[in-house]
Amino acid sequence: MGNRPYGIDPEMIREISAEIIDVASQGVQFGIVVGAGNIFRGFQASAQGMDRTSADHMGMVATVINCLAIQNIMEKMGAQVRVLSALEIKEVAEPYIQRKAMRHLEKGRIVIFASGTGNPYFTTDTAAVLRAVEIKADVVIKATKVDGVYDKDPAKFTDARMYQRISYTEVLSQYLKVMDSTAISMCRDNALPLIVFNLFKQGNIKRVVMGDPVGTLVEE
Ligand code: GTP
Repeated sequence: MGNRPYGIDPEMIREISAEIIDVASQGVQFGIVVGAGNIFRGFQASAQGMDRTSADHMGMVATVINCLAIQNIMEKMGAQVRVLSALEIKEVAEPYIQRKAMRHLEKGRIVIFASGTGNPYFTTDTAAVLRAVEIKADVVIKATKVDGVYDKDPAKFTDARMYQRISYTEVLSQYLKVMDSTAISMCRDNALPLIVFNLFKQGNIKRVVMGDPVGTLVEE
């Protein structure tokens, strides 16, 4: 959304894409999972009386719109990008096939995973962890608006403390709002490290990937 109240801000996508393309050009394989809160919030619709399944289907379809926008903007910037969709919509995107995703990554393409997991009741974060496990990613990096994981909401409490490192179990037992519990427990079960960091500080994507101590590392 960038600074818009709704929809897609191409300039924002360009800024983030420039960072990702820069890192990817150094040989880092990148899979991107994107939500659709800028277009449609499934959980809000379900709270307002819509069936959760229908609301989630709408949210998943909305992610395709975001993926196509990112793909197109990244391609205009010179990157090779493939969108793989968990829901079959083959006139607009390739169907998600794990082995195709691996092959695209090996060939240096940036892969964008569309339509979440393809199932209702699973969040974008869970989709990200699922795809990360499937493609044998080294790490999941979760881009947020805050610097990392805090012991309480930093927007409400001035004494909120940010963790440099925290375990999956602590995140779950303290109900810390990092990702939903399905996503966190899937990271734990597969020993997949997770780094939560602030997307809106320029250069942060590169810092995280290069191993600088940015954000919060969630691991065992
Ligand atoms: P290689 O197998 O390495 O050649 O990968 P490639 O993606 O370059 O080749 P492919 O011939 O599979 O795809 C060429 C273009 O068509 C790429 O932009 C793909 O994303 C796109 N493409 C492939 N399969 C589908 C599909 O089922 N639906 C849509 N919409 N596009 C597809």
